[in-house]
Amino acid sequence: MTPLLDDPAVVQRILDHIDHETTDRSHDTWREPVENYRSPERFAAERDLVLRRYPTPFCPSAALPAVGSYVARDAAGTPILAVRGNEGRVHGFRNVCRHRGAQLAEGAGCKKAFACRYHGWTYALDGRLLHVPHEDGFPGLDKSTRGLIPVETVERDGLVFVTQDAPYVPDVELPDLPDLLPPTLRLLQSSELEVAANWKILMEGFLEGYHIKATHPSTFYPLQYDNLNVVETFGRNNRIAFPYRAVEKLRAVPRAQRSAAAKLTYVYQLFPNVTVATFPASVFVTVLEPLAIDRTMFVTYVLTDRGDDDGTRDMMKRGADLVTDGAAEDRAVACAIQRGLDSGANESFEFGHFEGAIGHFHRMLDAALDAARRAGQADREVP
Ligand code: FES
Ligand SMILES: [Fe+2]
Repeated sequence: MTPLLDDPAVVQRILDHIDHETTDRSHDTWREPVENYRSPERFAAERDLVLRRYPTPFCPSAALPAVGSYVARDAAGTPILAVRGNEGRVHGFRNVCRHRGAQLAEGAGCKKAFACRYHGWTYALDGRLLHVPHEDGFPGLDKSTRGLIPVETVERDGLVFVTQDAPYVPDVELPDLPDLLPPTLRLLQSSELEVAANWKILMEGFLEGYHIKATHPSTFYPLQYDNLNVVETFGRNNRIAFPYRAVEKLRAVPRAQRSAAAKLTYVYQLFPNVTVATFPASVFVTVLEPLAIDRTMFVTYVLTDRGDDDGTRDMMKRGADLVTDGAAEDRAVACAIQRGLDSGANESFEFGHFEGAIGHFHRMLDAALDAARRAGQADREVP
């Protein structure tokens, strides 16, 4: 995987761009057929052959701080439960009771065991079926074979990755993000918001800074630059640096000591549907969960390593309000694009030299679908 630039190199590139009124330009441009946002077959293939088959960040580790902490929500249309077990290891399961299929948990919390709300079958944190009320009604039931069905779960670099079904390609690498989400971070809040747009349209909004002035004239633009970014790809993933105007202060700092902290936002796009964005006092982890071809659950986890005093809370709130307002502007644009998809106005969308990270995203998605097609396991499902 290509290593990412260090902070001093990113900052230098930004200062050079400011001096020359330039920005990073991708070598290639990209055209994405509008049909790829409209086709139900394509949507099903993305969900079944990519989102369920690649290690996908499900939640940050900080959302599972203690033994028994859990997060339950749908991922690529499947109810999934992630829970921190007694040994501290995170387990992932299909969140479906082995009696008649109800969910064992909803939302987030902390439990010693999961008792099904329907008839009370009870499962341990490691998924074992512990207790069946009035067990004599189930002659021959072998509890040892009726534990929750696990999904492959790996905790790494502050994220919990879930792979629901076996990937078609053997060499699926997890992104290397050693310092991005350190264990000092704690979960400040999480939220879910349903948005009337295809998940890829929402993802595209994270991946370029060409829209900063036009879309965010009074939120991000006063603090940031229009169309001035450092764009890097690593493996199937992207990182885009969005500098703040305060980055100019680093001209007075020796090159090797220039830190990105509070001088720019890094947006990491983790293939396929997750972003991690850094802010001066917080980190946002956003999961774009496709609910349907034209509906997405926007799941956000806000993490911080700051203390809990009044001054910090005020600063966090001001920062969070700004990000919330800016994100609402992005969602409004995404919904507008969604409304026009069926108009016939565009056969394809055009992504230029400033939108190279979006090209990489679509290229990687196409490659993943092609790999599934080549594996010959799903010929009829892949458009
Ligand atoms: S469905 Fe869970 S106990 Fe019956
Ligand atoms: Fe935006």
